[in-house]
Amino acid sequence: MTCGFAASLELFLRTKSGLESPGPVSAGEWERPSSVADEVRFAADLYRGAAAAYDRYRLPYPAAMTADLVRRAGVSGRGRLLDLACGTGQLAFPLRRCFAEVWAVDQEPDMVRVVRAKAAAEQARNLQPVLSSAETLGAPPDYFELAVIGNAFHRLNRDLAAS
Ligand SMILES: C[S@@+](CC[C@H](N)C(=O)[O-])C[C@H]1O[C@@H](n2cnc3c(N)ncnc32)[C@H](O)[C@@H]1O
Repeated sequence: MTCGFAASLELFLRTKSGLESPGPVSAGEWERPSSVADEVRFAADLYRGAAAAYDRYRLPYPAAMTADLVRRAGVSGRGRLLDLACGTGQLAFPLRRCFAEVWAVDQEPDMVRVVRAKAAAEQARNLQPVLSSAETLGAPPDYFELAVIGNAFHRLNRDLAAS
C-alpha cells in the first residue's frame, strides 16, 4: 500500500473523518484502494514467544513522528485511540497521554501480557490491553477518535481492517 507514512513505516491511520494520508502524498493524489488483490495470509501464531525480545529490541518510533501524527490527525485530547496489532504497545504507550482511553489490541497472548505488565508498571490506567484479532474486535460504531496500525496492516485482512 502506498498511503502516507506507509511507504516507509507502514503506519496506517483512520480517523472519524475517513482514511488519512498524512505523509508526502497530497490528499488529492491519494485514493483509498477498493480492494487488495494480492493479500497474503500470515500464521496467527507467528509472534508466539517473541514478545519479550520484541519489546526489548524493536526500535521505538521517533517522538517527532508520533507528535506529527497527533498534530495531523487533529487529536482532541479527550477521545479514544485504537491501536490494532499493537505488539507490545509501540504506538499505544507514546500516544496514550493524548487520549482519554486507549485500546491496545493484539491477537498474540504473549504480546498482550507484556502490554498489561508495562501498563501496570507505569500506572497507565487509561490503557486497556485487549486480546483479539483485529478482524473480530467488537467495538461500538464511532467509538474511537483515531485508529492506528503500526507496521502490521499488511498482516491483516486489509479490506476488513480498513472498513
Ligand atoms: C510487526 S508487529 C507490530 C507491532 C507494533 N504495532 C509495532 O508498530 O511495532 C505485528 C503484530 O501484529 C500482530 N497481529 C498480526 N496479525 C494480527 C491480527 N490479525 N489481529 C491482531 N493482531 C495481529 C502480531 O501478533 C504482532 O504483535
